[in-house]
Amino acid sequence: MTTSVQFRSVTKRFGSMEALSSLDLKVEPGEFVSLLGPSGSGKSTTLGLLAGLIEADEGEILIGDRIVNDIGPEDRDIAMVFQNYALYPHMTVFENLAFPLRARGRRRPEQEIENRISAVAHALGLPDLLHRYPRELSGGQQQRVALGRAMIREPKVFLLDEPLSNLDARLRIRMRHDIKALHAAIGSTIVYVTHDQAEALSMSSRIAVFDKGKLQQYAPPFEIYNRPANIFVANFVGERETLFLEGSIETSPAPHFLCRGEALPLGNGAADFSAVTGRPLKLGLRAEAVTLVSAEMPGAFPITVSQIELSGPD
Ligand SMILES: Nc1ncnc2c1ncn2[C@@H]1O[C@H](COP(=O)(O)OP(=O)(O)OP(=O)(O)O)[C@@H](O)[C@H]1O
Ligand SMILES: [Mg+2]
Repeated sequence: MTTSVQFRSVTKRFGSMEALSSLDLKVEPGEFVSLLGPSGSGKSTTLGLLAGLIEADEGEILIGDRIVNDIGPEDRDIAMVFQNYALYPHMTVFENLAFPLRARGRRRPEQEIENRISAVAHALGLPDLLHRYPRELSGGQQQRVALGRAMIREPKVFLLDEPLSNLDARLRIRMRHDIKALHAAIGSTIVYVTHDQAEALSMSSRIAVFDKGKLQQYAPPFEIYNRPANIFVANFVGERETLFLEGSIETSPAPHFLCRGEALPLGNGAADFSAVTGRPLKLGLRAEAVTLVSAEMPGAFPITVSQIELSGPD
């Protein structure tokens, strides 16, 4: 019960504004892919196109082998949870979960409804809350019910648009684990929109980074963090901005980065710098890659500390 999802050269314009430019992206069956980017970068547009809520101007959208451009949202076998999920306030948790299974035209037998609710409630830690009303639940519990209501129909693809954004910081971190566990349990393909890089890094099998409607990089978290495709990705991903030094690479006597007359050794790895030697370059440094040593140490690069700030573990 899982499927691939694919965008082939998909473009979406609102008036003269290109919200999404020629997107090529494939999500394999059972993957957990995050769409990550700043506000207005085209994440929700991408999700809306996949859900069938927005129509593409150009290109093809596939769910499995099927081109779905002309197929309505209700026939795409997907479920979506929005940022501002709404539970039915006059229904208990059980009734909220049962609602999609009792809908006209696709009503399931009562015994099956009970079995499915029991399974979903178990996966989400809700068994003791089934008789309560939404107002009697915490924000995190309500969020879990909203997730449960979306997954109860066992969709092939599960779309989540910033589902944790109205929770407090601590609860968001706990919900990351819940969602990951949920994914492991149901195995559905998940496309998850967030502007929180930590969330994307911790949950995804791959991350698609967007800026201004354009896909910047699509890779596993480790690669996005350690091998960013460009300066935008390097800056957007990570707790802190990447530090950039301007200079050039020289290879003699040993590979080093020459910056303001100082040599920063580039290690003795097998990297081939021949294509970039002698050209003006920017060297990106993550804060955690820097260690303070005395100026006399071999390989030390002189800096001036201008501010010290306590930030907990690092
Ligand atoms: N219905 C619409 N009409 C006109 N412009 C729109 C419409 N929907 C989105 N846009 C524009 O398209 C661009 C991409 O919007 P989108 O909602 O995809 O961004 P986003 O990455 O989800 O941002 P956020 O993190 O703020 O939710 C934005 O510039 C937005 O203003
Ligand atoms: Mg959005």
